[in-house]
Amino acid sequence: MKIGVIGAGAMGSGIAQAFAQCEGFEVSLCDIKPEWAAGGKAKIASALGKRVSRGKMTQEAADVILNRITTGLKEDICQDCDLIVEAAFEDLGVKQKTFGELDAICKPECVFTSNTSSLSITAIAKNIKHPVVGMHFFNPAPVMKLVEVIAGVNSPAEAVQTVKEIASKINKTPVEVTEAAGFIVNRILIPEINEAAFIKMEGVATIADIDAAMKLGANVPMGPLELGDYIGLDIVVAIMDVMFNNTHDAKYRCCPLLRKMVFGGHLGVKSGKGFYNYANGGKVATDAQ
Ligand code: 3HC
Repeated sequence: MKIGVIGAGAMGSGIAQAFAQCEGFEVSLCDIKPEWAAGGKAKIASALGKRVSRGKMTQEAADVILNRITTGLKEDICQDCDLIVEAAFEDLGVKQKTFGELDAICKPECVFTSNTSSLSITAIAKNIKHPVVGMHFFNPAPVMKLVEVIAGVNSPAEAVQTVKEIASKINKTPVEVTEAAGFIVNRILIPEINEAAFIKMEGVATIADIDAAMKLGANVPMGPLELGDYIGLDIVVAIMDVMFNNTHDAKYRCCPLLRKMVFGGHLGVKSGKGFYNYANGGKVATDAQ
């Protein structure tokens, strides 16, 4: 089965790796510049290289995975894909344009999916002839076991079923969701990160103590503030805004501290600084900075 992954950023390359790790899948990893797509494959090679150096995988096994991934432009390598997973920039206009272009490129039986973290699948699918379903992976995509499969108003039931079956084939557990802002996980997880930011803003506890409290008291692998940094604080703010704008429910109001940090370019791991400072490969809480 051939999978077209659109967008070779952190999520796109992780999704490409998740498919390529399984026998029976070939991946066309695309971006708007061929070198960006190649960069996504280089990220996968580096992640696999770390596993090889730790003795968790042989170089031969890593090469098999890498050989299943072709990189390039969607115009050139997506014609014969059976499934598209779009992981492009999180903007409705960008996604609608991307699917509009794919509509003209892909064979008619290809199922389109979007890895959107909160946008409406129904809106993304507007004017698209191919069936469109939500296929939401979690970061890091090669590791996290869940895939939310989201049915928009016009998603055909057979396409939803196909996507669930494909998720199972790559050893993920699919959970079906009827479209609603934030789906399941982000609707619960992102307000938790937002609440942790309020706790920090109010001076209730330090960054390290908020994270330690949740790790030790709620048994989660990462505290909410380090997880916010890991996801990207700009993404956290964008998801809070989508949930607020869809519901006008005050429980989804974005913490002003988060918005201020994003305005200031403190986006978390990807910008080198968020609730923690990641300079020189370190991780130092920013309370005193
Ligand atoms: N790519 C590929 N593999 C990765 C990886 C990555 N980016 N990061 C970690 N891994 C692998 C490692 O290779 C390792 O595999 P191995 O044991 O077979 O060698 C395994 O994951 C564990 O990694 P580590 O030992 O380095 O580190 P940890 O045990 O601390 O686990 C973690 C790291 C998996 C990231 C863990 O801290 C975790 O689960 N954190 C929470 C992540 C989470 O909540 N994600 C959801 C975010 S919400 C989201 O994505 C939705 C979006 O819409 C916002």
